[in-house]
Amino acid sequence: MSKKLTVAVVGATGAVGREMLKTLHDRKFPATEVRAFASARSAGNKVPFGEDELTVAELTEKSFEGIDLAIFSAGGATSTKFSPFAAHAGCVVVDNSAAWRMDDRCPLVVPEVNPHALGKHNGIIANPNCSTIQMLVALKPLHDAARIKRIVVTTFQAVSGAGQKGVNELEKQVRDLFNAREIETKAFPYQIAFNVIPRIDVFMENDYTKEEMKMVNETVKIFEDPSVRVTATCARVPVFYSHSESVNIETEKKLSAKDARVILSQAPGVKVIDNPRADLYPLALDATGCDETFVGRIREDESIENGLNMWIVADNVRKGAALNAVQIGEELLRRDLIRVTDKNVFMK
Ligand code: A2P
Repeated sequence: MSKKLTVAVVGATGAVGREMLKTLHDRKFPATEVRAFASARSAGNKVPFGEDELTVAELTEKSFEGIDLAIFSAGGATSTKFSPFAAHAGCVVVDNSAAWRMDDRCPLVVPEVNPHALGKHNGIIANPNCSTIQMLVALKPLHDAARIKRIVVTTFQAVSGAGQKGVNELEKQVRDLFNAREIETKAFPYQIAFNVIPRIDVFMENDYTKEEMKMVNETVKIFEDPSVRVTATCARVPVFYSHSESVNIETEKKLSAKDARVILSQAPGVKVIDNPRADLYPLALDATGCDETFVGRIREDESIENGLNMWIVADNVRKGAALNAVQIGEELLRRDLIRVTDKNVFMK
């Protein structure tokens, strides 16, 4: 690879896109140039990049000439339409949407869990769903130690998971309610202020939501283990940033809570906060702005022979999206994989 490395952020005006720019800057990603793209609506607007500002350009099919790596967070439709043009231009895509996650041509990667999967990329790499990422960062070391047979997860997901419009809606509803004004509901199916909504994304034929099925299917793909059974319930809560998850696992081998704590305290990207006596456990407010996945409330499930319960929290915009995507970029660089071997794989 040449020394020059041009990186694009697509969806640079969105909640995750802005965090991607911040993460690239904070981690000193070795780009010689960073470009910002969004829709025609934002062309000419400025977005912060460290001390500087970048001028946003409209994304077109021709935007990828001369770009080595494009990190997308602009929704599934934009990614479906434009990523093949990026790969065709020799630009490697890391995409944050659900568009390519279950496509056999695309690795689905959490760098702490399955970085080896990058070796087979064809130009488009998928960033998993935010709830899947934090769950698997915590569960992979336990899977390696005791083989997980079944996962039962309930999520408590922040409004920022729905993008900037989700953040704005919670803020406005709270202000309007305190001022005795009518509230507007657009980003979520019901009022989210002071409420909990057990539905994220659309319902599927089996009455699970798409978000819940993402956790099921993505876990199997990332673990490369179809024998792991997963069931999920995903709820939206009136929290701005950081998703919390109640996770129950059943393992093949016995794993005590104490052993799990030791394993997790040595695991990459994980921080254990688990001291009931001192009233310490992971909190969404504390996780916000942090890179780590926090795990606590680790205890043995006394209703089965080999089971554990735990509480997993991470910043959904950071580790659940922007940071994971940038870490994939770093891993690609480390492995000298920022190149597209067959530029036509997604054009056929
Ligand atoms: P824009 O601000 O111009 O609409 P969020 O997830 O916070 O809602 O952000 C979505 C991001 O995706 C925004 O940056 C948005 O840009 C961008 N986006 C939406 N549609 C397109 C498109 N057709 N081409 C490029 N970027 C798009």
